Amino acid sequence: MPGRSPSDVIKREVREASAYTLKYLEADVKLDQNENPREIPDSLKRKIMARFGESGWRRYPAFVPSRMTAALSRFTGWPADGILVGNGSNELILATLVATAGPGKTVAMPQPTFTVYRLLASAMGAAVREAPLRADLTFDVEGLRAAARESDVTIICSPNNPTGTFLPAADLSGIIASARGLVVVDEAYHEFSRQSAAPLLERFENLVVLRTFSKAMAIAGLRFGYMLAGPGIAREVNKVKLPYNVNVFTLTAAETLIDAVDELQGSIRAIIEDRERLKAGLDARPGVEAFPSAANFVLFRTAHPAAEVFERLYERGVLVRDVSNYPMLDRALRVSVGTAAENARFLDALDDALEALDAQG
Ligand SMILES: Cc1ncc(COP(=O)(O)O)c(C=O)c1O
Repeated sequence: MPGRSPSDVIKREVREASAYTLKYLEADVKLDQNENPREIPDSLKRKIMARFGESGWRRYPAFVPSRMTAALSRFTGWPADGILVGNGSNELILATLVATAGPGKTVAMPQPTFTVYRLLASAMGAAVREAPLRADLTFDVEGLRAAARESDVTIICSPNNPTGTFLPAADLSGIIASARGLVVVDEAYHEFSRQSAAPLLERFENLVVLRTFSKAMAIAGLRFGYMLAGPGIAREVNKVKLPYNVNVFTLTAAETLIDAVDELQGSIRAIIEDRERLKAGLDARPGVEAFPSAANFVLFRTAHPAAEVFERLYERGVLVRDVSNYPMLDRALRVSVGTAAENARFLDALDDALEALDAQG
């Protein structure tokens, strides 16, 4: 019927966007989504299940999840009225952009970076201003400063997905100080860099820090993220965040994990050590270039088209991410840090894949 087809009813900005997609979901060795390779301890799972069993399910979660924000306040040292919780940090990226971005607004971001920022900013009708990374994939601090000066929102992912690059606090504060608008720092991977922008919140009221429980905290399946910001910003973003956005089970799990965060430190330490071993393993292979990473993944490049390396690895039971369609990342793939055994399987599979591709000529 005329007037009802997708091209009539869906916004141009959305029709023109590339979907955030993932190729394949299953593999023996799944290193494509920067997930934690280890489950939280069984004892913690049992504690969460017991607490969940005792909670009421017919009622909505609390209108203001104040027990959760109080727990996060103790955990982060930031006041509870500057904390919002989300159904994953993705939801808070969306809420922040709903509150700030639209026609006539500009959203700046480094490139390459997490693709969701561009997708959502464009869908909101905002212009996207890119600040390309340098050729060695480090942040172009001057470029970011210039972009932030002229943009309503600047989103910086540090450590950056998919490159693993980290932006030191001194550089970040220079960017925030010269920004015209809000600076959002997505710290999804901060536990693996052992550094955070959070201490800058005291100094800059235009700073927003986003974090997730999907990576170091190992509950990606439960969807939990949070925002730290000045209370004035948090109050406004809260207006456009969906009510009751975090369910009772996830709130129970996240609260329990905060109290038990010491039990997760061993796994975080192991990931950091294994990341360095994985990088060294990649560096040791002729024809492979690996980039330094402050996150729980490593970006690497070979002489062969990434799609071919990806498929050869997949045939050998190893799933990584082909990121070669990102700007500047020709021939690049991203591998999440798995357990030591998974990383060894990946490196073996890579040897086989590269040998086969070299032979093919
Ligand atoms: C940089 C970055 N931000 C946010 C997210 C989304 O995290 P969440 O699971 O909390 O929605 C990811 C997930 O991969 C990410 O890489």
